Amino acid sequence: TVGTTFAALGVFLLDVWLSAGRFSAAHWTDLAPLDLLPADGAVPFPEKKVALIRRGERLAALSLECTHLGCLVNAVDQGFFCPCHGSQFGPLGEVWSGPANRPLPWHAVRAREGRLWIHTADKRSTPDWLDI
Ligand code: FES
Repeated sequence: TVGTTFAALGVFLLDVWLSAGRFSAAHWTDLAPLDLLPADGAVPFPEKKVALIRRGERLAALSLECTHLGCLVNAVDQGFFCPCHGSQFGPLGEVWSGPANRPLPWHAVRAREGRLWIHTADKRSTPDWLDI
């Protein structure tokens, strides 16, 4: 019926509006296609200051900004290393040695249309694991 069609159109437009609002917000950043994600381990995206951490069928996004004074940390064999003053972090961002005294934070992540998005301003103390 015409009423049903208009109702469906209304729901569709509301979904488009909500999606556009949520994902066009300045802090959501398109990071990578989901089908190119690695097996277990970390894949750094230095230009986005984030590393994807995968554990089995779960993914999370770890900030690469050192919690001492904000330098970009590098991925190394066992975790992350800050070249500025030598802080070392474990594979999940835990502090192994200072001067940093707080772990690397985690970003909110979402999957959308086959791609992974991170929220650059939404940092958390625990991983925002995404089931894939
Ligand atoms: Fe990383 Fe100082 S900024 S150890």
